[in-house]
Amino acid sequence: MANTDSWGSRVGLILAMAGNAVGLGNFLRFPVQAIQNGGGAFIIPYLVCFLLMGIPLLWVEWSMGRFGGRKGNHSTPFILHEMDPKRAMWKYIGVFGIFTNLAVAAYYCYLESWTLSYIWHSIAGSFNGQTADQVAGFFSNYVDINTTTTGIPFEPIVFWLICLALNTWILAQGLSGGVEKVAKIGMPLLIIFGIFLAVKAVTLTAGENGAINDGTVGLNFLWTPDYSSIWSAKVWLAAAGQIFFTLSVGMGSIHCYASYVKKKDDIALNAMSAGWMNEFVEVVLGASIIIPISIGYLGIDRVVELTQSGGLGLGFKTLPYLFTQWGPTLALIAGVCWFGLLFFAGITSSLAMGTPVMGFLKDEFGWKHKPAAWFFGLLILILGLPTVIWFPSVFDEYDYWAGTVSLVVFALVEIILFAWVFGMDKGWKEITTGADIKVPTIFRLIIKFVTPLFLGFVFIMSLPGIWDKITDTSAPWQVHASRVLLLVLFLTICWFVRVAYLKRKAAYKTTHR
Ligand code: TRP
Ligand code: TRP
Repeated sequence: MANTDSWGSRVGLILAMAGNAVGLGNFLRFPVQAIQNGGGAFIIPYLVCFLLMGIPLLWVEWSMGRFGGRKGNHSTPFILHEMDPKRAMWKYIGVFGIFTNLAVAAYYCYLESWTLSYIWHSIAGSFNGQTADQVAGFFSNYVDINTTTTGIPFEPIVFWLICLALNTWILAQGLSGGVEKVAKIGMPLLIIFGIFLAVKAVTLTAGENGAINDGTVGLNFLWTPDYSSIWSAKVWLAAAGQIFFTLSVGMGSIHCYASYVKKKDDIALNAMSAGWMNEFVEVVLGASIIIPISIGYLGIDRVVELTQSGGLGLGFKTLPYLFTQWGPTLALIAGVCWFGLLFFAGITSSLAMGTPVMGFLKDEFGWKHKPAAWFFGLLILILGLPTVIWFPSVFDEYDYWAGTVSLVVFALVEIILFAWVFGMDKGWKEITTGADIKVPTIFRLIIKFVTPLFLGFVFIMSLPGIWDKITDTSAPWQVHASRVLLLVLFLTICWFVRVAYLKRKAAYKTTHR
């Protein structure tokens, strides 16, 4: 088979996997989820979800990926098929692992492109001397592409195209030559930028540069445990959703990366290294930038109010203004660090979203690497366009169906396949083969019983919300149309999987005559 790409080194693999997980979710989505759900009230469900769902799913997905890769499969339809070849349905369940990546990449790359534009505007000093309202208005104008007043007409489109081209070009360089290199440069820089900003944030002092609170006020808000939330379904759903999104589980991108690991290579320790690195970046760095700075200047109540209108405002509307309080030089440095960090976080994740569909085309249809990369770029251009034109309504719709609901559905089904159909005896062997650490035996029970039950519970609890969404007739036509588009995308991939399957059967017959 033509699909012989592989990772260059272990460090590169771990950084690429960590880069897959560390994304915009860590810096923009996590703080907002935490604030919306009561700060200290959020963190306990969050950590429980990490231990009981996140860690088990990481091991399960890594081992499924390596297992599938051994037999030449690099995307979930046929990885799942290989685990239970008798039943026809698994390969269609596996369609989620391609669908999610495409649909998320479609809106994610747009978000990612803003960071490029904001790096540029930080260097140009565009925000210096502006009022808070002007900086916030800058963002609103920027995303309102029909009336953009940022100077260059259609500036967002230009940056979006640059961002897509960049992603495509890096993907075309292959795993070790492209993705791995970007991770090796991007991840260390991201951590350095993050530490710089976190130190600035935490050492904020009330009374200096217009701050009204110390940086520690925001930290205490997040880290003072509040047990009242233990019984709130809403908080648990938000915590579970954040764990999925941030670890990139339930998406198919981990399977794909892991399918390029060698047969006997460790996965137990690698999965933990990447997973814990993500948690470090999320709960240490991600939590110590936006929250302390915005609460330091605006107070808890105002910040809670600001997050009600969605996740992206604080990072793009509020932070650039607050940076200007530190004077033009520091504002430039902080702006470049913040948006540079977001850019590296974003691109290492969007590259991960590109690989499953490329692996599929290469495995099943004999495509070459470069055309597969350009095809991915083209698909994202087409699928992303509606999210650009109708931001935020269509953007949020993609985020809801592909970035939230699909993850839970896929994770639930895959863990049942792994623990109950493939079976825990074989499954445990897959996880522990080649392991450089001893995987605690308790996880055998957790993977078999606790995680599936937990996931089932999360799924059932989220059904009313899904139902409300579907039956809400007040949504504008673009939103309805985007749902149809996503459905068509899903069915089209199903059709390709079917064609691939028939091709495989025909090939099998000719070789076994
Ligand atoms: N984990 C990434 C983040 O925190 C998002 C992400 C990476 C993702 N890969 C994905 C989302 C695949 C959906 C599908 O931002
Ligand atoms: N609808 C999401 C929200 O407001 C959009 C979003 C916010 C998002 N932050 C994100 C999507 C980070 C991807 C990554 O919460």
